[in-house]
Amino acid sequence: MNRVLQHTDARYPIVQAPMGYIARAQLASAVSRAGGLGIIETSSGDVAAIKAELVRMRELTDAPFGMNLPLLFLRDIAMVDAVIDSGVRFVTTSAGSPAKFIGPLKQAGIVVYHAVPTVKAALKAAESGVDGLVVEGAEGGGFKNPEEVSTLVLLQAIRDQVDIPMIAAGGIADGRGMAAAFALGAEGVQLGTRFVSAAESPVHQNYKQAILDAGDTDTVVLNKKASPCVRALKTQNSRAIAEAGLMPPDTLARVKELYFGGDMEASIGLAGQSAALIREVKPAAQIIQEMVDGFFAITSRLGGLAHARQF
Ligand SMILES: Cc1cc2nc3c(=O)[nH]c(=O)nc-3n(C[C@H](O)[C@H](O)[C@H](O)COP(=O)(O)O)c2cc1C
Repeated sequence: MNRVLQHTDARYPIVQAPMGYIARAQLASAVSRAGGLGIIETSSGDVAAIKAELVRMRELTDAPFGMNLPLLFLRDIAMVDAVIDSGVRFVTTSAGSPAKFIGPLKQAGIVVYHAVPTVKAALKAAESGVDGLVVEGAEGGGFKNPEEVSTLVLLQAIRDQVDIPMIAAGGIADGRGMAAAFALGAEGVQLGTRFVSAAESPVHQNYKQAILDAGDTDTVVLNKKASPCVRALKTQNSRAIAEAGLMPPDTLARVKELYFGGDMEASIGLAGQSAALIREVKPAAQIIQEMVDGFFAITSRLGGLAHARQF
């Protein structure tokens, strides 16, 4: 059993990414029930709503799940207590330094993985005592580092320097990406955009459809000179922001109108380049099963090549 499976207790090393408002009980329970690891987000910042989601999650599944703390966006310290009191055994931290929170989380017996976009951030996280890393390449959707390093390079460059377990994120949508990530040293994968467009994802059909329609050049990185820097679907709004260079500070304030109202111009629709690999809305269980089957088909083909010493 690899280290990510030991740390998460999931059947498969396939993690559903934390995503504000989206990574809640409806989606996370479907992923956890199917053998992956659902994650409950806290980036929406509403402590009462997150506590209610935790209650719902326990009603919907007995399977293990995790939570995420996006440290830079943490507005209320009560959220950290809610995570510690939740009883989850696995937490990812992201967007900021884990140093301040690693102590209380670990004292509570929680395994902590920190999301990193560069080798420097990985070394710093390892030094602060995290148990593992979520290695987030520039292809991924959501909050990004303006210094864009691809998942392909990042996994290898980090593995050259530290030996803690890595969950690969960014650009992975199926068993092919999972096999590639494992070849580079990952012991798990995390998928965001693929699960935004899962059947159980609570977002409006327009957002799911925009992901299905997107090709390889249909996302854009915005706000590189300010915070937050994000990757989002190309729309009239996001193209205008890209043109202007800076994102108006209230852009994400109306994100629920896009996510749940289906108005794709109300805000920006966070998504990664992996949108180009997604053609159908599918239930989480099917996504996970096809991913596992695809992973083993590819690794057994490669094992055959290795056995015959052929290319
Ligand atoms: C809609 C959306 C919202 C996201 N919100 C968060 C978040 O709240 N916290 C976080 O750590 N990562 C967030 N991410 C990034 C994901 O954790 C993950 O790294 C990324 O989605 C991986 O790339 P992929 O979209 O190609 O699968 C978000 C991604 C998306 C698509």
